[in-house]
Amino acid sequence: MDICNFSTALPKHAKKPGVSSNEWLRRQRKDLYVKQAGKENYRCRSAFKLKQINDRFKILKPGHVVIDCGAAPGSWCQVAAQEVNADGEDVSQPRGTVIGIDLQNMAPIDGVHLLSLCDFTSEGTQNCIRNILQDRKADVLLSDMAPAATGVKSHNHEAIIKLCFSVLKFGLSVVREGGTIVCKLWTGGDQPRLEKAMHAICENVRVVKPDASRGDSAEIFLMGRGFRGFRNPP
Ligand SMILES: C[S@@+](CC[C@H](N)C(=O)[O-])C[C@H]1O[C@@H](n2cnc3c(N)ncnc32)[C@H](O)[C@@H]1O
Repeated sequence: MDICNFSTALPKHAKKPGVSSNEWLRRQRKDLYVKQAGKENYRCRSAFKLKQINDRFKILKPGHVVIDCGAAPGSWCQVAAQEVNADGEDVSQPRGTVIGIDLQNMAPIDGVHLLSLCDFTSEGTQNCIRNILQDRKADVLLSDMAPAATGVKSHNHEAIIKLCFSVLKFGLSVVREGGTIVCKLWTGGDQPRLEKAMHAICENVRVVKPDASRGDSAEIFLMGRGFRGFRNPP
């Protein structure tokens, strides 16, 4: 997990398991993305993961509706808000919507609907998201959710896969035809099952590992484009 510049919302499990505190701190101090996040006022170096995904695949456009699951401390929401013009600052472009959800508390971000202290997997939270959407559908559904890491790789993998499946399931009812889903996961035995499920509902599925995602981390992102839902519902 990344160090965050926004100390009041530092993720509980900010330390990467298996790396000593001193080693982790040394690495963070050297990390260019940590420095750059500070310079560009992003709450967390994770911002650059979404920026790099977007630079390459152009998934975020002005006017888009974006749902960001696992949003704390808020750097993906900051990036999404800029890209979709969520605060309406650019009057020549359509104004977009960003909804960020997290178990943790998040400080406000201009133009972003934040659902703090909310479990994305609960029905209540998903209904809150639907209320904000009203009759609109999401253009982009993002998940950078990470469960509390246990130190046992296989458990962490199982837990994150479960979160990814909850994102896909929710996506079935809220993502527009042709929309995009991006899910973070840690690699492991269930990755093919998740890819298969994404293939069943999206035209195009690929694994993405942006440069800002540390090379020694099992983290990858699965991106499904051309959302179409089930052609032949099971
Ligand atoms: C890697 S951090 C997200 C960083 C964020 N993308 C950013 O750029 O600021 C992962 C987040 O997922 C959240 N999370 C894990 N399980 C969740 C759940 N069931 N519902 C909502 N958030 C969850 C954690 O609380 C944590 O803040």
